[in-house]
Amino acid sequence: MSRSGESNYYARHIFFCLNERQNGEDCCALHGAKAAFDRCKSQVKAAGLSGPGKVRVNKAGCLDRCAGGPVAVVYPEGTWYTFVDNDDIDEIVESHLKNGQIVERLLTPPELGR
Ligand code: FES
Repeated sequence: MSRSGESNYYARHIFFCLNERQNGEDCCALHGAKAAFDRCKSQVKAAGLSGPGKVRVNKAGCLDRCAGGPVAVVYPEGTWYTFVDNDDIDEIVESHLKNGQIVERLLTPPELGR
């Protein structure tokens, strides 16, 4: 089978920046990133979405878009989200990870980088 003919091992993969800076500089860890990651993991599992062919939720280090933090990115779409609370995470899970519908209101502004 050719490479291009293989389907992705995970249908969707979401990475949460959990970076924590020791020098007091701002970072996603100071804005509830770990709680959001835990929430996403448990919601994905509860919805029966986790596993091969479905969804994988992963920790990441700094994704270099700290100014938009806390951030998470979903592949294969390459969609960046800036979230605030559990409702935001639940919407990303239900709408995007489950149904493939991007949550426009939570998109990280394109100009926000480091
Ligand atoms: S600290 Fe999260 S993107 Fe840099």
